Amino acid sequence: MAAAIIDGKAFGAAVRARVAAEVVRMRAAGVTPGLAVVLLGEDPASQVYVRSKHRATVEAGMASFEHRLPAATGQAELLALIARLNADPAVHGILVQLPLPAHLDADLVINAIDPAKDVDGFHVTNAGRLATGQSALVPCTPLGCLMLLRDRLGSLAGAEAVVVGRSNIVGKPMAQLLLRDSATVTIAHSRTRDLPAVCRRADILVAAVGRAEMIRGDWVRPGATVIDVGINRVAGPDGTARLVGDVHFDSAAAVAGAITPVPGGVGPMTIACLLANTLTAAAGAHGLPAPAGLTA
Ligand code: GUN
Repeated sequence: MAAAIIDGKAFGAAVRARVAAEVVRMRAAGVTPGLAVVLLGEDPASQVYVRSKHRATVEAGMASFEHRLPAATGQAELLALIARLNADPAVHGILVQLPLPAHLDADLVINAIDPAKDVDGFHVTNAGRLATGQSALVPCTPLGCLMLLRDRLGSLAGAEAVVVGRSNIVGKPMAQLLLRDSATVTIAHSRTRDLPAVCRRADILVAAVGRAEMIRGDWVRPGATVIDVGINRVAGPDGTARLVGDVHFDSAAAVAGAITPVPGGVGPMTIACLLANTLTAAAGAHGLPAPAGLTA
């Protein structure tokens, strides 16, 4: 194996420790950052995510407010809860766990969140602010990827970056962040012609397609930095479930300069950045400067 392994677990723990240290200072000044998480229904994966967000929030010294509602909750009721959280001074961050049940309009719900409390960075105002170079709350997963890339590469200026995937949650904001750091950015997707050839151009390859092990070693430019956002559950040789990324790890690691593993790469960064965003939102609400090194 040629590639260095990018340890997102260790980096995420360091980010969380920095957040926790800032929270101690903020609490001494009379402000306890608070995160409200809203979960509708019983989706097992969402329940796991919400539980680990709650644990991490409390461990960072923040207040955690969980709102679990039945899957059949109506839009008006959900919007009323969001209005209450928007108005609650103890709540600095609001996260509505996605996906929402099909009878609800996710765009409408997300855009009902006060943009200053939108710690997911999904509100159209934050997406627009990011795209126009204004200070914004930035989606947690691409923010975590950016931190790993800056740590590994220093400056990203002039690098050829290829982002595979065009979701609002990862692909598009990732591309904006890379552009802001002066990389040359291509967004590729399922309809891209000759995707392997496009990927082979990349100094920085970010995979966020949600297809298990789709990106193989012969798609990777020798020495490239590979960031694997995928979390896919597949059956292992003995029939038990295992997690794999969107990148075929062994073949890619033989070629890449550095690569994130799954698990233990991007995943731990997402929660760390949610805490960082909650801290940023709390600082903003109280007229304090954004914490250094924890924003884009
Ligand atoms: N579901 C899967 N990932 C996410 C995320 O980053 N934010 C929210 N709100 N829901 C998700």
